[in-house]
Amino acid sequence: MPSAPWWRSAVVYQIYPLSFADGSGDGVGDLRGVRARLDHLAWLGVDAVWLSPIFRSPMADFGYDVADYCDVDPLFGSLADLDAIVADAHARGIRVLLDWVPNHTSDRHPWFVESRASRSSPRRGWYVWRDPAPDGGPPNNWTAAFGGPSPAWTLDRATGQYYLHTFLPAQPDLDWRNPDVVAAMHATLRFWLDRGIDGFRVDVVHGLGKDPALPDDPPELVPIPHAALNDHESTHAILRALRRVVDAYPGERVLVGEVYLLVGKTHASYYGRGDELHLVFELPAAVLTPWDAAEWRARIAHVAATLEPIGAWPTWVLSNHDTPRHRTRFGSEARARAAAVLLLALRGTPFLYAGEELGLEDAVVPLARAVDPGGRDGCRAPIPWTPAPGHGWPAEPWLPFAPEPARRNVETLRADPSSILHLYRRLLAARRASPALRAGDQTLRPAPDGVVAWERTAGTDRRTVLVNFTDRAVACAAAGTVEVASDGEGEGRPYAGTLAPDQAVVLR
Ligand code: NOJ
Repeated sequence: MPSAPWWRSAVVYQIYPLSFADGSGDGVGDLRGVRARLDHLAWLGVDAVWLSPIFRSPMADFGYDVADYCDVDPLFGSLADLDAIVADAHARGIRVLLDWVPNHTSDRHPWFVESRASRSSPRRGWYVWRDPAPDGGPPNNWTAAFGGPSPAWTLDRATGQYYLHTFLPAQPDLDWRNPDVVAAMHATLRFWLDRGIDGFRVDVVHGLGKDPALPDDPPELVPIPHAALNDHESTHAILRALRRVVDAYPGERVLVGEVYLLVGKTHASYYGRGDELHLVFELPAAVLTPWDAAEWRARIAHVAATLEPIGAWPTWVLSNHDTPRHRTRFGSEARARAAAVLLLALRGTPFLYAGEELGLEDAVVPLARAVDPGGRDGCRAPIPWTPAPGHGWPAEPWLPFAPEPARRNVETLRADPSSILHLYRRLLAARRASPALRAGDQTLRPAPDGVVAWERTAGTDRRTVLVNFTDRAVACAAAGTVEVASDGEGEGRPYAGTLAPDQAVVLR
């Protein structure tokens, strides 16, 4: 039997480059900053990094509005800087994924500039243009994401037609029904694959294929942005073609898709028959499930029930650059620690969001410093590297730090073996050493109220995982030696049969 691809047993670490580390001293994170910190990621033990967008962009949506898919924005550095990261990361056994944004471009992308120039532009059909409705209004009732319900259409006065933008007006949607768009976007993937990039996080996958009739959304759903409702069947052929592009390269390149579906749709279909995405983020459930045993048990069971029968491999993620951090959502460091055990001991590929290993909360961003049209500044605060003022940032960073940076920074927590940072490192080491944790089977076990328990097995290798979601001690029978405990208590000793409040353990 061929061995499982690397991404099944990997831990992926998401870097939000604007906020990771500043190598140029302008207050904004960049690629030189990332490169200088690769040793920290190797020390932590991650297998891959995913860089949120670093392509040329006017930054209306902080890089999710791309003006050139084949170049690095000068804010972040140069193509040579990226090549250097890839080389240095690979030398440390760390793979590099980029964030690819195929649903829309920037309105400054030359393709769109040309498209809007005239109705007869050869690139007119690269985007979704429609005549006004009979009353002169937008062609349908779709609403855009960000900034309250507003139409997903903007009128271009010069040519008298509306263009579709399921996000900001500065992010016009590409028309993936157009074969020239498909070819041009495939070429952008090949550009990076040729440079040794190991895969892509694919933005707004569920938005790619649109119903060609562009029918109104049901009136009761109109307050929900159309992007979260889209999920059109034509997306699957688009994904199969993307998969063929990526699979033509050696080295198990990977596609992990952002699939954000509301109203009870299934994410499983985005794996296709093993011929679409390799991995799927189940959003928003993945990052919104509350700190509650019954909810997590149901979620774990749901993921297993939907993915195991089709041989699809799950992902687990608690935080990203779009949602309040789980430390903030769950409300305490004890819970954030237990959540780290949960994230790293479930069957699937875990994705860490830079800063969660420090137990960072969201920053409180005063209105005067708010910059994101989507209100997501708090989870995008800069990473504090040192205790000293400035925290390793040579200039005032573009966003304020999260609370307690003098205590909650990489240097201080690295010096403290009882810190959450060391907990993450121990968990990553435990995964690396255990086939059961990395890629084994998983069985949920009965457990007292407030506790979720499961077993991981691979051949003779076996682990039991217990997570106490309550703020009281709970007796919970299980046998084994405590390999990792979220609070560090009892590691290396036999499990004594009781979980402390908000404690999680891995038993061997
Ligand atoms: C999802 C990205 O994660 C988010 O940051 C972005 O604003 C939207 N897609 C639009 O590209």
